[in-house]
Amino acid sequence: MSEEKKEEKGLREEARDLFKLFFEKSKDIQKATSQTIKELTDKTFKGMQPSKEKVKEITEGILEGIQDVRKDVGGRFESVVRTLQELTGKATASVREVITGVLEGVEEVSEKEKREECLRYIKERRSITFFDPNREVPDEVLIEILNTAALAPSGYNIQPWEVIVVKSKDKKRKLKDICYGQQKAEDASANIVVIANLNAAEEHVDRVLDSWVELGYIQRKDRNTLREQILSGWKSPEKRKRKAIRDSAFFAMSVMIIARYFGLETHPMEGFDEAKLKKFLGIGKDKLVPLIIAIGYKHPEKELLPRAYRFKFEEFGKII
Ligand SMILES: Cc1cc2nc3c(=O)[nH]c(=O)nc-3n(C[C@H](O)[C@H](O)[C@H](O)COP(=O)(O)O)c2cc1C
Repeated sequence: MSEEKKEEKGLREEARDLFKLFFEKSKDIQKATSQTIKELTDKTFKGMQPSKEKVKEITEGILEGIQDVRKDVGGRFESVVRTLQELTGKATASVREVITGVLEGVEEVSEKEKREECLRYIKERRSITFFDPNREVPDEVLIEILNTAALAPSGYNIQPWEVIVVKSKDKKRKLKDICYGQQKAEDASANIVVIANLNAAEEHVDRVLDSWVELGYIQRKDRNTLREQILSGWKSPEKRKRKAIRDSAFFAMSVMIIARYFGLETHPMEGFDEAKLKKFLGIGKDKLVPLIIAIGYKHPEKELLPRAYRFKFEEFGKII
């Protein structure tokens, strides 16, 4: 390796380590970035404008540092980009050059991660048996999860799901008994009782059709014909049950994936006495409870066993 290369490598590492050192003290990406640039400019270049190659090295070093510390800033890049953008506004030309480079790097990594994120939420979801009984999920987070999950698809957009969130300590204790003593129902921050409404078509069809007319999906003159068509799909008790449960299951799966985005864990449960549960929560006979989702934070001291066997495509599918 030539002397020049060695020196360049050293500068990148120096920038990274300095950044991490400053970040350790302030926990502030903006501050740590500007301190790193200042320190390197003052010490290494003694106030002189660094060459393009040196700027690139500093840029890469800071970017590496950001990637290393980002779990400390909530693991998300949006805030990093925002703080760097704020810093650019105040910076001198050479500093701006470094920041622009860091921003480009952050955006590149962020794009890649966004693509991988969705898969990660699916791959990392597990049914968590041990919840931390001392950590609460704020109502606003639960509501955001549920509103986002409500973007799940449903036949004719009927959205036959409802939920009751059991969160108070005494109600969770009672729910645990109804779940045949499953401790997670009591330890989780909340339990989302997913309800499939067997009368959803009749109750929701008009609101759905109004929206379709407003948005131009259909013409007003076709509204009644479509209404009949939708309701006929819900005629028999068997069809009602299938549709309501199927769509509610899409909703439930969405809840479990979206929960991961918020750093939360879930556990779906079918082990409960449905008759007792319906009585406890005042759920009518025209509604079913396909499952309950316990939601909260994993207990910090408990480890989960590895994921059990999953059938492979060759075993469960074929392409024809
Ligand atoms: C609809 C449904 C109901 C379930 N009910 C229970 C339950 O009552 N108690 C329980 O311990 N696990 C329950 N599970 C969790 C499964 O055992 C678990 O998903 C499966 O073993 C795979 O593990 P994983 O989710 O960690 O990949 C349920 C899962 C589903 C999808």
